Amino acid sequence: MGIVQSTTFLPDPPAHIAIIMDGNGRWATRRSLSRLKGHEQGAKAVREAVKGCRELGVPYLTLFAFSSENWKRPEEEVNHLMGLFKFFIKRELKELKEVGVRVNFIGDMSRLPEDIQKLANFACEETHENNDLVLTIALNYGAQAEIVTAAKLLAEQVKAGNLDPQDICEEKLAGFLDTSDMPDPDLIIRTSGEKRLSNFLLWQSAYSELVFLDVLWPDFDKTCLEQAIEEYYGRCRRYGAVSV
Ligand code: IPE
Ligand code: IPE
Ligand code: MG
Repeated sequence: MGIVQSTTFLPDPPAHIAIIMDGNGRWATRRSLSRLKGHEQGAKAVREAVKGCRELGVPYLTLFAFSSENWKRPEEEVNHLMGLFKFFIKRELKELKEVGVRVNFIGDMSRLPEDIQKLANFACEETHENNDLVLTIALNYGAQAEIVTAAKLLAEQVKAGNLDPQDICEEKLAGFLDTSDMPDPDLIIRTSGEKRLSNFLLWQSAYSELVFLDVLWPDFDKTCLEQAIEEYYGRCRRYGAVSV
């Protein structure tokens, strides 16, 4: 039994965990394999993360799968990643549906290949009645672009005479983000030892606890998840106030 489950008086698990799944390339390079193999192994770690969150009762899990900057990678790698996303959704959807996972996507899906867009919509429709875990996959996601889009939508409302600029507030802007129907992440985990957000959930992470793990994403498992949650439990979240 893992650390998190074996302790009796623990607070609730984080309501929303977001993960920057980093280190696939280094995992492969260290084994003299092509980076593509690293991404294939990474897909297996996604199963571990989903299973771990379900078992620990985490209601929201968001995974950073492809950033709006990842198009800068070699074409072969981008195409391979797109193929893996398709393969993963097709292979996992039935089980995700059966175990109560609701699948959701954030990011600018319009730039993705049409078959992925269709598959993603299908996965959302198929699982929309599930409530046990909301699994959000960030695909072609960039936080700065997300905030710019929200700003444009607010500006449209002002232009149409439906919004007074003085009424623009944090809640209104957040209402136009891709994440408007989910709580902000309590815990953001980044694997691979890098200590940056790389344009992930910049608005929503205002008061997230950040945990950086040295493990490379393909080696991530439930023990890593528990380790991150344990570190989270040790944090004192003050939100600008003083501790009690
Ligand atoms: C994360 O692993 C996967 C994606 C960004 C799609 P990387 O491919 O970034 O792995 P490293 O950082 O090169 O090791
Ligand atoms: C962030 O990882 C994006 C994903 C995990 C999908 P990157 O590997 O792209 O980030 P940088 O380039 O090291 O900042
Ligand atoms: Mg990386």
